Amino acid sequence: MKDLNNKVAVVTGAGSGIGRSLAKSLAARGCRLALSDVNEAGLAETAASLGGAEVKTYRLDVSDRDAIYAHAAQVRKEFGQVNLIINNAGVALSATVREMTDADFKWVMDIDFWGVAHGTRAFLPYLIESGDGHVVNISSVFGLIGVPKQSAYNAAKFAVRGFTESLRQEMKLENQPVQVSCVHPGGIRTNIANAARMGKSENAEAQRKGFDKLAMTTPDKAAGIIVKGILKNESRILVGPDAWGIDAINRLLGSAYQPLVERFSRKNLYI
Ligand SMILES: NC(=O)c1ccc[n+]([C@@H]2O[C@H](COP(=O)([O-])OP(=O)(O)OC[C@H]3O[C@@H](n4cnc5c(N)ncnc54)[C@H](O)[C@@H]3O)[C@@H](O)[C@H]2O)c1
Repeated sequence: MKDLNNKVAVVTGAGSGIGRSLAKSLAARGCRLALSDVNEAGLAETAASLGGAEVKTYRLDVSDRDAIYAHAAQVRKEFGQVNLIINNAGVALSATVREMTDADFKWVMDIDFWGVAHGTRAFLPYLIESGDGHVVNISSVFGLIGVPKQSAYNAAKFAVRGFTESLRQEMKLENQPVQVSCVHPGGIRTNIANAARMGKSENAEAQRKGFDKLAMTTPDKAAGIIVKGILKNESRILVGPDAWGIDAINRLLGSAYQPLVERFSRKNLYI
């Protein structure tokens, strides 16, 4: 996809953060937008910020498989085509493996992994049909390295990465007209930590303050990097200097990155 003008773009989780900024950036490049979220008030705010762009909003819970398939069919019908799906909706959980509940673990996997997998599979036939399609799945730097208290999120985001990289190769082997990108943001200043669930023994306030300190990149900047990556058909889109640093450490050290994370966590997460 060399040009986004008049392309139909679908963004999940568009009521806040990166999703909202992606909507703004895509609108500025002439996309026709199908935006969804569970947060209808946030979605309405996003839509109101888009000026004259063609935009429709939908209440969609990405953890509901049948609702995603119905949404994909509805968007195809209402817009006549679909070119781009950005599976962005996501949530976070801070809890150790020993402490997290099954319900919280499932909540993360249902939204952060299954939401992405169903979103991809539901829209793929329409992207192929369009003759110029692109799947963009939002993983994380936590899809590159494992860290304490993020096992559920790590599991979901590593799964998104494996699923997405496999799909990219399949699309090429089948000569399908669909590009595929996996996005790995570092810390982005959004609402994700405020909306996160925490294990019982977590100090939620300290966790959130810690996140705010580490989140270096604004959502608008993140969206700009993602949209440029889409236009350059990058397979892996790294967002923010911290993402580039973590990717480099991972490549240089292999699994030996783990003692570094332990040292950092002892200071920052386990006091
Ligand atoms: N902020 C970061 O530091 C960061 C880093 C790496 C990856 N990410 C990923 O970026 C994506 C966007 O997150 P963000 O930082 O903009 O967070 P955010 O909380 O600001 O926005 C996430 C949006 O997803 C929506 N959402 C939550 N559950 C949903 C569901 N079941 N169905 C539909 N929508 C739902 C929320 O209502 C919200 O509008 C997520 O996948 C997140 O994991 C964020």
